[in-house]
Amino acid sequence: MEIGYRGIYKLSMDDPQGFWANAAEELVWEKKWDQVLDDSTAPFYHWFNGGRLNTCYNAVDRHVNEGRAEQVAVIYDSPVTDTRQTYTFLELQDEVARLAGVLKSQSIEKGDRVLIYMPMIPQAIFAMLACARIGAVHSVVFGGFAAAELATRIEDAQPKIVLSASCGIEVTRVIEYKPLLDQAINLSSHKPAHTIIFQRPQAAASMQDGRDLDWISACEQAEPVDCVSLAATDPLYILYTSGTTGVPKGVVRDNGGHAVAMLWSMRNVYNVKPGEVFWAASDVGWVVGHSYIVYGPLLNGNTTVLYEGKPVFTPDAGAFWRVIEEHKVSVMFTAPTAFRAIKKEDPKGEYCKKYNLKNFRALFLAGERCDPPTLSWAEELLNVPVIDHWWQTETAWAIAANCLGIEALPVKPGSPSCAVPGYQVDILNDKGEVVAEDEIGSIMIKLPMPPGCLPTLWNDDERFVKSYLSTHPGYYLTGDAGYKDEDGYIWVMSRIDDIINVAGHRLSTGAIEEVIAAHPDVAECAVIGVADELKGEVPLGLMVLKSGVERDMSVIAGEVIALVREKIGAVCSFKKVVSVAILPKTRSGKILRGTMKKIADCESYKMPATIDDPAILDEIKIALKSIGYA
Ligand code: COA
Ligand code: AMP
Repeated sequence: MEIGYRGIYKLSMDDPQGFWANAAEELVWEKKWDQVLDDSTAPFYHWFNGGRLNTCYNAVDRHVNEGRAEQVAVIYDSPVTDTRQTYTFLELQDEVARLAGVLKSQSIEKGDRVLIYMPMIPQAIFAMLACARIGAVHSVVFGGFAAAELATRIEDAQPKIVLSASCGIEVTRVIEYKPLLDQAINLSSHKPAHTIIFQRPQAAASMQDGRDLDWISACEQAEPVDCVSLAATDPLYILYTSGTTGVPKGVVRDNGGHAVAMLWSMRNVYNVKPGEVFWAASDVGWVVGHSYIVYGPLLNGNTTVLYEGKPVFTPDAGAFWRVIEEHKVSVMFTAPTAFRAIKKEDPKGEYCKKYNLKNFRALFLAGERCDPPTLSWAEELLNVPVIDHWWQTETAWAIAANCLGIEALPVKPGSPSCAVPGYQVDILNDKGEVVAEDEIGSIMIKLPMPPGCLPTLWNDDERFVKSYLSTHPGYYLTGDAGYKDEDGYIWVMSRIDDIINVAGHRLSTGAIEEVIAAHPDVAECAVIGVADELKGEVPLGLMVLKSGVERDMSVIAGEVIALVREKIGAVCSFKKVVSVAILPKTRSGKILRGTMKKIADCESYKMPATIDDPAILDEIKIALKSIGYA
């Protein structure tokens, strides 16, 4: 008899160790674990202590050995270069083993960090898996980040080597990566010994003798190397994500728990069987790319699609449907913003009608709250279940989802459904009490979190505890606020910190403020996320100029916008800034960002009781109106 979602969820809560040990049996272990969960150093938890395995073996070699050698593992589809390329599991094994050989020949050993700064080309996947193969810890940095952001990550991760490419391609624009990388290495006090550069025909990177190696010739000369044995608790990767300051947090992922969670989620959340084609239209630089372009689908023996293009303009709003038809995609994952972009270009869905989507079974959306109009537009257009699910870089996989592999629950538009098995999600008030149904509070996860979730932050146990575990002992702070309804559906409504979500990309307004404040004419500033029809939210800056500054405001605004683009990157989409005489603050000096956001978004707001001078809000409204808000 099928026990359904509630039965499986209960099993995971009643006997988490039995539940995850059972899931772990699906992987190939060199040595099984001694302990499913080691809680002896709580609040630090370690899954599958004593176990040994290799993630790359399970994602690649295992399939070659078990009859999938000739199955396509990776489809590279690049409308921006008009390229389609496929790699079978056997070919993938060869590419990865040889690149691992290159790393070995450069003295990269288990535990060494390797930074990967790559566009969406197959070599990015080879790079990640090559590191996993030899136990090096990779840290992929999204290509849209500027040199200064890259430098911060080099400084923190201290990589021995950087793998990169000569360029990325943004629709029609070629973005040269190598000058950015050179600049980042100059800015960083840590200097990687080498870089390995994949030269693309669209741009030739200039190479520094002795330091920079050519990817293609290095691979031609390399001997393939085998997978090494790793402890389940050894780190697989570090992925930096926005924190509340300009210093990003290095989320650590282990090998064992991560592989178990990835495999389990492919089957139970996404309902994909080995051999099927799975497509996550994201970027390898984000957690979605790590989990569901690379590790999840490959661990599950799926064919994964690596798409170097956009939902629109490459070449049109039919791009996604073309990929789904051409590659027989069964299940797809992207961010709601991609669907808003398609809807904007093709509101009636005319392009979709031109393609045959008969293999397509389900669409999953995450990265930001899925607004109900976008959800229903996608449902009507595609006629398949459209599933909003909620998770974050820290967890690596869904916290709340409609687990199609277990039981399809009724969809409630605006909610990512219920807690995924393994996660006890509670809504807490300021006192740390679980609140009543429908009451808003801080969304928290009871410790221990399931396998796959971060065991700590890179080299910073203290920040890990301070940022996530100290608000209410025994709980992990997600940073999101919301409520649970009478059916246990979770409603994620907003962030409780200064994180904003721009086109599904997570950014810190604090980090943008740090850049603006460094402009010589700026005395003080605040950045808020304002509603945007396409990107969900975009950052907007309010700045107070230093007294005596008489330069033209539009010139200063242009400089500030350029500075943010230079220091953080284009991905920030920082294009709006306005000068104000004064920023509204509480009597204790806290800037009222939430109130200003409500004014900009034309939402009603309560006059904060602690405001210093209420009249300032009227001036803010006038300033925001002058740039098209409020
Ligand atoms: N390298 C260099 N620059 C990049 C980049 C990369 N890898 N990725 C984005 N950028 C640049 C863009 O060219 C753009 O520059 P511009 O300001 O000069 O136009 C800027 O960063 C903002 O990029 P983006 O947020 O992607 O906006 P867009 O207007 O180019 O496209 C969408 C909007 C909605 C089509 C696009 O964001 C998208 O497809 N999003 C959905 C999928 C997704 O990636 N989700 C992420 C997590 S699941
Ligand atoms: P990231 O770490 O970049 O994946 O961003 C994680 C954050 O994005 C979450 O903490 C939420 O604030 C937001 N988010 C992701 N998915 C959803 C969703 N389905 N609904 C609401 N918010 C989401």
